[in-house]
Amino acid sequence: TVEEPAPLPPLGWNSWNTFYCNIDEQMVRQTADAMVSSGMAAAGYQYVVVDDCWMQDTRDASGNLRARTDRFPSGMKALGDYIHGKGLKFGIYHAPREKTCNQYFANLPGTSSYGRETQDANLFASWGVDYVKHDWCDPRGSASEQATVFRRFGDALKATGRPIVYSINPNSAHSNTAPTYSGWGAFSDMWRTSEDLSASWSTGCSPSADCFVGITEALDIVEPMREWTRPGQYNDPDMLMVGVRNALTATENRAHLSMWAMLSAPLIAGNDLRNMSADVRTVLTNRDVLAIDQDPLVRQADRVRDDGDAEVWAKPLADGSVAVALLNRGSGTRQISTTLGQVGLGSGTHQYREVWTGATGTTTGQITAQVAQHGVALFRVTPSGTTPPPPTGSTLVSASSG
Ligand code: DGJ
Repeated sequence: TVEEPAPLPPLGWNSWNTFYCNIDEQMVRQTADAMVSSGMAAAGYQYVVVDDCWMQDTRDASGNLRARTDRFPSGMKALGDYIHGKGLKFGIYHAPREKTCNQYFANLPGTSSYGRETQDANLFASWGVDYVKHDWCDPRGSASEQATVFRRFGDALKATGRPIVYSINPNSAHSNTAPTYSGWGAFSDMWRTSEDLSASWSTGCSPSADCFVGITEALDIVEPMREWTRPGQYNDPDMLMVGVRNALTATENRAHLSMWAMLSAPLIAGNDLRNMSADVRTVLTNRDVLAIDQDPLVRQADRVRDDGDAEVWAKPLADGSVAVALLNRGSGTRQISTTLGQVGLGSGTHQYREVWTGATGTTTGQITAQVAQHGVALFRVTPSGTTPPPPTGSTLVSASSG
C-alpha cells in the first residue's frame, strides 16, 4: 500500500490564478525560491504546482507527454529536481478528456490521460511528481462517468508506489457538479467543490473579469458538504485569491484565509510569491490560522448561526478547543456575538485568543467582536485546564508527510 499522501490538507502554491498560461521554468523556480525566502515554506507550504499550459499538444513517438520546449527547455524532471532541492514538492496538471482546458478553448489537439493512465502516471512518477491536478474541462459527462474516469487515473497513481496527492476538478467547464456526488474521497485526496473562485467577495465577477464564484458563494456551496471532509479527503473550494492582482482588500484577504482554514481546506496560494507585499505575506503565514487549518481532527466548520449577513462558524479542534469565526458578509461594521454553548463548548471559564489581533482574555459565556465589513474575527477558544498551543510565531505547523 502507498503511504497516505495528504494526512492533512495540502499547503502550497499553483500557477493558474496569477499566471494563467504565461508560465515558464524560470518563473516556477523563482517561485520555489520565494516560497523558501518568504517564510512560507517554514510556515508549512510545500507544493509548487504547475497548472495548465506546460505540455505540448501532441505526444512523442512513444506516446509520452512532453513539456513545451519554449517554456520548459530543461524539462519537467529537472524542474522537479530543482523544487526538491529546495525541500519542496512538485505538482503538475493533467486532464482526462480529449483536451486540457487550454487545448479545449484554443481548439488544439488533445493529450488526454484517458486510456494512457498507467503510462502518464509512470511518467509523472519518473519526473518526481508529488501532486497531480486532474481537470475535467468538458461540459459533457455525468458525475458517475466522471467518477469512473477519475478513479482510473487515481488507481494508476497508486500503482506507481510513489505517494502522490491526487487533486481532481469535476466542475471545470461543468457548472458545480461536485455537490451532486459524495463519493469523490474514495479515489482522490481533494476535489473541487465549485467552479473557479474569482478574486471577489460575494458574486463571481472580479476586476479581472472572471465570472465564476465569489468567496461567500463558494462558502455557501461547500457548507452542506461538511461530512465529506476527513483526514486524507478534502472538500476543495479552490485555490486562494489572497493577494492575487490585489483585487481583495486586506480585510477580505484575512477573512478568505480564515474561512478556508475553518473548512480544513487545502491552502494553495495563487498569488505571485516573488512580488508579495509584507501584508499579504503576513496573512498567508499566520501560524495560528494555519494551525486551525492543519488541525489533526480535520473537521469542516459548521455554520451554527446565520443571521443574514452575520454568521457564526465553529470548528472543533484536537486539543478540545473550538475555533470560532464571526463573519460579516455585509457592508458596514457590525457587532457579532455567540455563546460557548452555541459553538459546542461547555460551561466554566474559557480562554480565548483572536488570531489576527492577538487579543486574549477569558469568558464564561459570550464571545463578541466588532467585525469590519467583509471581515472575520477568528477566535481559538480553550476550556480552562487544557493547555492551549504556544502563541503566534512559535507554533510549528505540521506539514503533511509523504
Ligand atoms: C479550470 C480549473 O478550474 C482552473 O483551476 C485551471 O486549472 C484551469 N482549468 C486551467 O485551464
